[in-house]
Amino acid sequence: MSRFGPDPQTFFDEVYRDTAPWDIGVAQPSLLRLIDDLPPRGPVLDVGCGSGDLSIALAGRGLTVRGVDFVAAAVLQAQAKVQALEPEVAARLAFDVADALRPSRLGRFGAVVDSGFYHLFDQHQAERFARDLASALVPGGRYYLLAFASEFPIPNTPRAVSAAEVRARFPHAGGWRVLDLRDAEFQSRIAPVPAVAACIERV
Ligand SMILES: C[S@@+](CC[C@H](N)C(=O)[O-])C[C@H]1O[C@@H](n2cnc3c(N)ncnc32)[C@H](O)[C@@H]1O
Repeated sequence: MSRFGPDPQTFFDEVYRDTAPWDIGVAQPSLLRLIDDLPPRGPVLDVGCGSGDLSIALAGRGLTVRGVDFVAAAVLQAQAKVQALEPEVAARLAFDVADALRPSRLGRFGAVVDSGFYHLFDQHQAERFARDLASALVPGGRYYLLAFASEFPIPNTPRAVSAAEVRARFPHAGGWRVLDLRDAEFQSRIAPVPAVAACIERV
């Protein structure tokens, strides 16, 4: 069962009726710093893209980006932001409604970026996501992750992801190389949350 009840889609649809607590109006700074330190190759898939700020920041850096989210309202917000961009940046962006838990069904990518997606899922779902991710990345492709490192005794909140979990989930023996793993911060409209950020390469 998902951490967000029997019908997580309905939960997230409801959250997007208002401004979502994670929607800070810009891409998460910790994740962008990591991406700038270890620049990705395109095309990029943004899993659980929300209202699109990370995808837009990456398109501004010259990358071709596909952002997917299963909430139609979030995707509409992202598409509306595209209208205000320079045409050459807008041309590098596509947003659509899709389930991102099986990224290999969405294509093959030079990078997959994950700002608060992985930490939504329990260990079993996360394990299946990571296995599928291997097929979604080209050799040398990179997965960029930002996840909560703290857990809250509140229903419908993400779980904590530790550095040890990241290393165990993406082992060298499984064809992964952890290029960077660092303490980070996940900003929100409520309060900043301690986080973990990682860049993991598909060997
Ligand atoms: C914590 S929010 C982060 C949104 C955005 N990445 C950001 O940093 O602002 C997680 C996002 O994942 C989306 N999501 C949850 N489960 C999903 C799924 N199975 N497929 C696609 N999107 C999903 C939610 O709708 C939500 O927009």
